[in-house]
Amino acid sequence: FIDLPQKLLQDLNQRPHDSELARIQQTADRLRELTDAVIILGIGGSSLGAKALFEALRSSYHNELPPESRLGTPRVYFAGDNVDNDSLSDLLELLQTTCVNPQAREERWGVIVISKSGSTLETAVALRVFRREAQEYYGTRSPWLHDLFVAVTGAKDSRLRDLFTAEGYSNQEIFAVPDRVGGRFSVFSPVGLLPAAVMGLDIRALLLGAMSATRAFIDEPFERNTVLQMAAVNYLMTHELGKRIRVLSVWSKKLEALGWWHDQLVAESLGKQGQGPTPITMVATRDLHSRGQQHQEGQRDKFLLDLVVKTPSAPPIPIGMADRNEDDLNALSRRTYPELMEAAYLGTTQAYHRAGRPSAHLILPTVNEHVIGQVMQMLMLATVIEGRLMGVNPYGQPGVAAYKRRMEEILRSQPNVPRNGGIRAGSRPQTAPTTA
Ligand code: PA5
Repeated sequence: FIDLPQKLLQDLNQRPHDSELARIQQTADRLRELTDAVIILGIGGSSLGAKALFEALRSSYHNELPPESRLGTPRVYFAGDNVDNDSLSDLLELLQTTCVNPQAREERWGVIVISKSGSTLETAVALRVFRREAQEYYGTRSPWLHDLFVAVTGAKDSRLRDLFTAEGYSNQEIFAVPDRVGGRFSVFSPVGLLPAAVMGLDIRALLLGAMSATRAFIDEPFERNTVLQMAAVNYLMTHELGKRIRVLSVWSKKLEALGWWHDQLVAESLGKQGQGPTPITMVATRDLHSRGQQHQEGQRDKFLLDLVVKTPSAPPIPIGMADRNEDDLNALSRRTYPELMEAAYLGTTQAYHRAGRPSAHLILPTVNEHVIGQVMQMLMLATVIEGRLMGVNPYGQPGVAAYKRRMEEILRSQPNVPRNGGIRAGSRPQTAPTTA
């Protein structure tokens, strides 16, 4: 993953029209032109990076905006990351109630399915459900069944690739996850870039940011090398000082999904051989009213990594004067939201410091494609280095296979007949929670 951004950008310079990036952009443009909703199917590393980009870089209410305010960008939904019946039903119901005329762009939807192995059950079954739904909506012979479904998968040995090939897609139409790039390190491959381009993000800026982070990591001495400093502090805190819980505290609500992506990066890369920190994301100031108590006075097993945004993207919202001052806020009337956030950040940091609660701080100048590209690359590099310091292989996630195997065994050992809506024949539906 380390030199992937650079390679993709070089390829774009050399072959502006048929490079991988050009193909990604063309496919994204087609989906943007033809649809007003795109469902991204994937799980873990095949979903969390795109979700992080969507939440950080698009409006928090993107999907609620009318089409004209979204400037050609479809609504974006994530599925295939669970086998939860009711949330999938909700999404299908939304599509069924809002899309009744497939001739209208505003009522057409498409699917990007992402799975490197091509056999992850959560994603594979969701694809089957959405294909069935699309056949019913567009008709079994509709060209949209082909044009509105895009796959991103491994270059070989992938059932998903086999399925798309059998459906008549050429190799050129199926995007490949580079062989040696694992799921959680693949955000700067078609796995993250195709959804990002559909979202209307500047994928070149993302890659330039990632590339500049790699360059700084390679060129800079330790005193100016953020990646090495981050890896060193993390290693010291967890493995030498016993701070087993690593809290990524994001000082912007829009970075919560970046935190989930980071949770997976750390958990799957470092949770091996009985070692590794437990990563948790919190959003400040929201979670100061829940976890804050524990951070200040609970067990001394935590290390906080604060991700702070220096300058918000939108103009500062002032508190403002009001005729009634029962809330006693007129004294602060000229203060703005960013100032409130800064005061909360400084106050929290000082309070933790006084209580001997360790924290480190990564300051982002603002949130845009270039900065997010830098941050994601830095976090991936720092995680790999920490894994090397720990003596574990940060790539691969053999532990995840255990549940998958058991789940398949359970499913395949039972007769392939419906179970009466999930309730065994003869048994009464439970109306109260039970224990097992
Ligand atoms: O980081 C990883 O490799 C994993 O989290 C995978 O991304 C996840 O298990 C999904 O796998 P796949 O892309 O093969 O469906």
